[in-house]
Amino acid sequence: MKELEENIVQAKTLEDLEKVRIELFGKKGVLASEFAKMKDIAGPDKKAFAQGLNKNKVALQASFDAQYEVLKAQEIERVLKSEALDVSLYGTLAQKGALHPVMETMDKIIDYFVALNFAVESGPMVEDDFHNFEALNLPKFHPARDMQDTFYFKDGGLLRTHTSPVQIRTMLQSKPPIRMIAPGTVFRRDFDVTHTPMFHQVEGLVIDAKGKVSFANLKAILIDFLETMFGDVEVRFRPSFFPFTEPSAEVDISCIFCEAKGCRICSHTGWLEVLGCGIVDPNVFKAVGYEDVSGYAFGLGVERFAMLMHKIPDLRSLFEGDIRLLEQFR
Ligand code: DAH
Repeated sequence: MKELEENIVQAKTLEDLEKVRIELFGKKGVLASEFAKMKDIAGPDKKAFAQGLNKNKVALQASFDAQYEVLKAQEIERVLKSEALDVSLYGTLAQKGALHPVMETMDKIIDYFVALNFAVESGPMVEDDFHNFEALNLPKFHPARDMQDTFYFKDGGLLRTHTSPVQIRTMLQSKPPIRMIAPGTVFRRDFDVTHTPMFHQVEGLVIDAKGKVSFANLKAILIDFLETMFGDVEVRFRPSFFPFTEPSAEVDISCIFCEAKGCRICSHTGWLEVLGCGIVDPNVFKAVGYEDVSGYAFGLGVERFAMLMHKIPDLRSLFEGDIRLLEQFR
């Protein structure tokens, strides 16, 4: 008995103690074999034997429990020490990303028009001749097709050169009145300081019953839009030509780099061209089978807006993937 108790107290770890527990209290342990002896003891001795054995068992269990508490406490202490954290140490800061200036500008433009209840529409980047040109009053061999250097596929498909085909798709899929913008990626064979082969546009289209949509409406919304985007600027409408609008205009804002005094960026004119617009040409309505309606449309280049809003001098830097460009916009 002394020896058994000794074994318990000698256990220095929980694992040692577990071994002792199996030896003592296990199915084939010391106590079990002691109890087994009872069947060979006869008469009055049996009771005394059983009582003695039970007393020992209770005593052993008590020392076991006590030792277990001691070792468990030591174990907890050990783990706490070995896993100690210095919460005052500096951590490694996670690198924060930033929205690309083109996407950020796109979001701002979309937010402006969504607030005015314009729906946001989209269309495929791989277009066909009908939606990209024909229905927009740009028949085959029309000289204005040269304005847009197109990437063609062998099967006659093409990468859309503007977001205007989304006008056509939306008109074909719904009925007037229409109030939509179409933000998206477009492609042209062009590459220099102010052109990249892939860029982004936002197209706008408003259509209602004949006589309900006027050039005055178009001017009002675009002036407010440009003042929202660029702040306190002058806005000027210049007569221009687009096949899909008549009359058409190009819209300039007073140069935000030189306050219209004249600089390299505005080619010393004091003005920056920012978008094209006009009253939807009747031929466009004919192509989609619309009658007795009136409408206006506009289209703008998102990169140009981003460059002007953030004063980025070279358009190509937007697409070089240099992390240092993005870091400036955190
Ligand atoms: N699609 C024209 C372009 O890519 C931009 C444009 C001009 C769209 C006038 C229009 C518009 O809807 O009315 O250059």
